[in-house]
Amino acid sequence: MIRRIAVLTSGGDAPGMNAAIRAVIRAGLYQGKEMFVIYDGYKGLVDGDIHQVTKEFTQDIINRGGTILRSSRLPEFKNLEVQQKAIERLRDLDIDALVGIGGDGTYRGLLDLYRLGFPVIGIPASIDNDVASTDYTIGFMTALNTICDCVDKIKDTSTSHQRCSVIEVMGRHCGDLAVFSSIAEAAELTITYDHPYDEEHIFKKLRKLKAQKKSHAIVIVSENLLDVRELAKKIEEKTGFDTNVEILGHLQRGGAPSAFDRILASRMGAKAVECLLNDQYGKVIGSVDEDIVAIDIEEALAQKRDIHEPLLSLINMLQ
Ligand code: ADP
Ligand code: F6P
Repeated sequence: MIRRIAVLTSGGDAPGMNAAIRAVIRAGLYQGKEMFVIYDGYKGLVDGDIHQVTKEFTQDIINRGGTILRSSRLPEFKNLEVQQKAIERLRDLDIDALVGIGGDGTYRGLLDLYRLGFPVIGIPASIDNDVASTDYTIGFMTALNTICDCVDKIKDTSTSHQRCSVIEVMGRHCGDLAVFSSIAEAAELTITYDHPYDEEHIFKKLRKLKAQKKSHAIVIVSENLLDVRELAKKIEEKTGFDTNVEILGHLQRGGAPSAFDRILASRMGAKAVECLLNDQYGKVIGSVDEDIVAIDIEEALAQKRDIHEPLLSLINMLQ
């Protein structure tokens, strides 16, 4: 039987991680479990930065951005000796189960611990929405809202000067932030992994808009795909549009989580504890068609993300 549960956040931080931490701790305490937190992700786990907490620890955190447990990236966690050390740290404190909040990389670390015999549960949190086993990761909707706030502001000034704005958004290798924000912002062009454009098409479309005296042109581009500064230079040369570049960067990861993310995180945190109570280990939590479900980690990691065909068609129809 699980008596003592620890929770950590790992990988890139995401708004709503605190709401998930709160839900895991409160759901565990409600069930009479002893709850622990680990600072700095897998790094803190290996270093033994592990502390027992009470309900007070979770007060006034649901609305805070970032993660109060801090996060880190620890490439050495792929090594067996490091993983064994992590399990020793947990066993030293009689901790029976670990809940890891993060993305696919965090899940891989959890899977390794599970294969070594340690009970784990994963909760998906990343602004990228790049975890195939859930419709939405915690943090995605907040980052999307942040991008929309930024693009609204860029549009104001872009319109005043009849400019083209090339805006790079995050996503690692997933186009969801670009696709969703393009629809919400009625971007003139969208360039992502799932929706690439050849340069000639871009120039032709922008030349047409320029000829029609369009007051602005918004081009949303996924990160890690192309050099947005180079693209902007070429747009100026080939279309005559005065063009600026905005790389939104880490501001997309900050800020208070949206109501959607707070509720998603609360439901997922509670589900993680429910799994542990039912002796279901080696699982990750997902939101699938509005239900909160638990899936085997291995199966989750093997899943491929579906391309959002209906959303891409919508972009093509409305742009
Ligand atoms: P995310 O969880 O957001 O995908 P990362 O890919 O940076 O973020 O992964 C977070 C951490 O998970 C890494 O820094 C590393 O400590 C651990 N991790 C990633 N991949 C593996 C792996 N294959 N095996 C064990 N641990 C891993
Ligand atoms: O995974 C979240 C994310 O913000 C990605 O969108 C981005 O590529 C990456 O993390 C940036 O990571 P770092 O925190 O190392 O700058």
